[in-house]
Amino acid sequence: MNFQLLSLLLLPSALAQTAPNPILTALGTITSDTTSLNTTVATFNGDPLALIKITVQSAQLLSDINKGTDTANKAANLTLDQTLAIATATLALATDVNQTITTIINTKPKFDKLLVVDPVILLNLKLEQDATRKFSAAVVAKVPEALQSVAQGLTQGIDDSFSEGIAVYEQFL
Ligand SMILES: *[C@@H]1O[C@H](CO)[C@@H](O)[C@H](O)[C@H]1NC(C)=O
Ligand SMILES: *[C@@H]1O[C@H](CO)[C@@H](O)[C@H](O)[C@H]1NC(C)=O
Ligand SMILES: *[C@@H]1O[C@H](CO)[C@@H](O)[C@H](O)[C@H]1NC(C)=O
Repeated sequence: MNFQLLSLLLLPSALAQTAPNPILTALGTITSDTTSLNTTVATFNGDPLALIKITVQSAQLLSDINKGTDTANKAANLTLDQTLAIATATLALATDVNQTITTIINTKPKFDKLLVVDPVILLNLKLEQDATRKFSAAVVAKVPEALQSVAQGLTQGIDDSFSEGIAVYEQFL
């Protein structure tokens, strides 16, 4: 057997192992954006430069959620294995979103002292919740039909976290 034929035969399994599912990649990007934002908000000390960083990182997160929706819309239907991997990543993201929004809620007293900040945070939370709903719907549509309601349930916790943050930032406005 010559080398070229051998590599052709090996190629499909090698590809299956190395090519990550694009929806899983998008979830990884969104998760890392979320964690970065969490760190910046958690260490906020009133510095205007840190405020700019929070704004930039929020915009990056929003943009990556919207890109994820495009990716999911274009993606092929998910296999069972891919669905399980995405369910696991979604649960991990839900924990990170819970912690990040908790951090954003806990930092509100510091933001309250700077007049314009609260409305900007509120607007970002609303935009991100809306974008996340679209992303979730696009992903759920690619899950095997029998598992779609379970998948929908997994994303509900993320939506609830946003609603909790929005309710806190809507006070006194
Ligand atoms: C978010 O920040 C809080 C406060 O520093 C920390 O306890 C938590 O582990 C962080 N979570 C993530 C996902 O970064
Ligand atoms: C993808 O799955 C949906 C059901 O969730 C089905 O309606 C659609 O035909 C499937 N598309 C392909 C290309 O298999
Ligand atoms: C985070 O999760 C805890 C435990 O389930 C819950 O009590 C809390 O309301 C959640 N907070 C946010 C902002 O999602």
